[in-house]
Amino acid sequence: MSSFQYKNETLHCENVSLKQIAEEVGTPFYVYSANGLRKRFREFDNAFEGMDRIVCYAVKACGNIGVLALLGSEGSGADIVSGGELHRALKAGMDKNKIVFAGVGKTEEEIKFGISSDILMFNAESRQEIDLINKCAGEMNATARIAIRVNPDVDAKTHPYISTGLKKNKFGIPVDKAKEDYIYASSLPNIEAVGIHCHIGSQLTEISPFRDAAAILVKLIKDLRKNGVNIKYLDLGGGLGITYHDEHAPSHKEYAEAIKEVIRDEDFTLVFEPGRNISGNAGALVTKVLYTKETEEKSFKIVDAAMNDLARPSLYNAYHEVQAVDSTEKMFTGDIVGPICESSDFLAKDRNMPNVKRGGLYAVMDTGAYGMTMASNYNSRPRVPEILVDGENYHIVRRRETYDDLTGPEGIPKYLRTK
Ligand code: LLP
Repeated sequence: MSSFQYKNETLHCENVSLKQIAEEVGTPFYVYSANGLRKRFREFDNAFEGMDRIVCYAVKACGNIGVLALLGSEGSGADIVSGGELHRALKAGMDKNKIVFAGVGKTEEEIKFGISSDILMFNAESRQEIDLINKCAGEMNATARIAIRVNPDVDAKTHPYISTGLKKNKFGIPVDKAKEDYIYASSLPNIEAVGIHCHIGSQLTEISPFRDAAAILVKLIKDLRKNGVNIKYLDLGGGLGITYHDEHAPSHKEYAEAIKEVIRDEDFTLVFEPGRNISGNAGALVTKVLYTKETEEKSFKIVDAAMNDLARPSLYNAYHEVQAVDSTEKMFTGDIVGPICESSDFLAKDRNMPNVKRGGLYAVMDTGAYGMTMASNYNSRPRVPEILVDGENYHIVRRRETYDDLTGPEGIPKYLRTK
């Protein structure tokens, strides 16, 4: 059952009416279903029943500490890409032994933060980074565990902006160079090379690229073991797609079967980094129609959410289903746009959608991943609150920003101050 359903003609998240939240919290807001998150996490994890595994939720998809605490309580670890994400994961009480740190540009400060937090491993992306991790660990009298992010040169067949496993992408170390780098890393005094990592892209709706990448990595692990590098963790990254519109997203079972086929009875711990797959369908952005406008060419609904709140439509031309919070049979064809001063500010374009009147509410669906985390303050718009619904109750897990939040970190140089 979906986390969002109509009850008495009003769209609910679990058992809470979105209209009620709008009345009490105001609009716009993001809303996440706690049971939707639990269900997706459990399904993903259970698909690998019987195998040693750690599912590390990709914090970049939705980093709210309320959401992270919920997933942490389900046994999730965290895939992080910055010091800020590490801070979030730790603050949410996630298990440090289940934190993996990816990213092509980790700074010295971030590396030291990871080492002092004793995370499971760094997914290193270059020899220079391996050297820096070794230096930092040396200065801290520690040993840092690493995996090397291998670029398997596999076509993920997804949007070019979110495809990462091809030779031409900036990510990882080419597979034919990785062995050399493992042998080098193993010779360093403050590094323990324990894992191998890849992440070939996001929103994959085909299974074969995952299978191909896993097979390439398993082959490399065997070769490395022969050369005295004992790999304990095989981290296959994230990327499993979801249904936004009419795409067929593979089931957890299909995904797990494909991986198991390649892994067979190898003895290592599997690591996964799903983001979108866990939270994407569990969230919605609720927004109010401020005005309606008809031009000779087109019909517009001008709503109070904008591209700064949800960047995906303007950035990737991404499709998000739009539902009327008060169910209606009436339809309109046109655009749902925000108040921002540029034409790329749309949430839905040239579509046939429910016709919500001025003052009514729309829910922009499947925005639980890469929604709030990609939000900005563009046009000095305070960022919207995040609400976590659990059964009959809702919790404000992030309050609406105020105007003072906008200017809080800023300052006027003394010589320009008027008071
Ligand atoms: N692991 C690594 C190393 C990653 O780079 C990513 C996503 C993930 C895991 C999680 O991928 P997922 O399971 O969510 O597909 N902003 C884009 C998505 C960018 C994904 C970047 N990396 C969007 O809105 O579609």
